[in-house]
Amino acid sequence: MIELVRTRRSIRTYSAEPVSSDAIALLVETLLRSPSSRNNKPWEFIIVDDRQLLAGLAQAKSSGSQFLKSAALGIVICADSSKSDVWIEDCSIAAILVQMAAHSLGLGSCWIQIRSRMQNESLSSEQHVRELLDIPPALNVATIISIGHPDEIKEPVPGNRLDFGKVRHNRFGNVFGAKIED
Ligand SMILES: Cc1cc2nc3c(=O)[nH]c(=O)nc-3n(C[C@H](O)[C@H](O)[C@H](O)COP(=O)(O)O)c2cc1C
Repeated sequence: MIELVRTRRSIRTYSAEPVSSDAIALLVETLLRSPSSRNNKPWEFIIVDDRQLLAGLAQAKSSGSQFLKSAALGIVICADSSKSDVWIEDCSIAAILVQMAAHSLGLGSCWIQIRSRMQNESLSSEQHVRELLDIPPALNVATIISIGHPDEIKEPVPGNRLDFGKVRHNRFGNVFGAKIED
């Protein structure tokens, strides 16, 4: 796991190679095994592999979503906020778990923020996605995870570039001193 954590990067350039159905099955299993508050599972996951729909979803924002057009898959993660007051946390955990599972399978992925973003001045990114995929109004769209075979190499962030000043020890005023050797 620590090796996966060290080498994961957001991948936004993908080759045309399709993702195998076995890999997709493992990604779906990962989503469904995600922990959720009170085991409420307020989420719904939409696996999108239709090229026209992916191109449409890529327009969900003016920037930061275009690369979805060339991804093999987009996983749209939404939830019914009436089923859980912490649906955002539940969705986020499923999202990062599926990103890590993708990485473990040699796939690249990137989080595309949808909640609280705008497609244009008058239409939210969420509404754009909802209309495109016929998502019922009761569901909130948190994020889309793009997935595909990487067509870019991104080096891991070196351990000595990690911001250890963000970590405190016992009380806020004490910096946690541990450093990673490179
Ligand atoms: C909550 C969240 C929202 C993000 N939204 C986007 C996004 O809309 N588009 C995008 O290209 N990357 C997005 N990212 C990816 C971040 O830009 C990326 O994780 C960060 O720059 C660190 O790079 P790394 O993932 O390669 O370590 C998002 C990441 C998170 C956690």
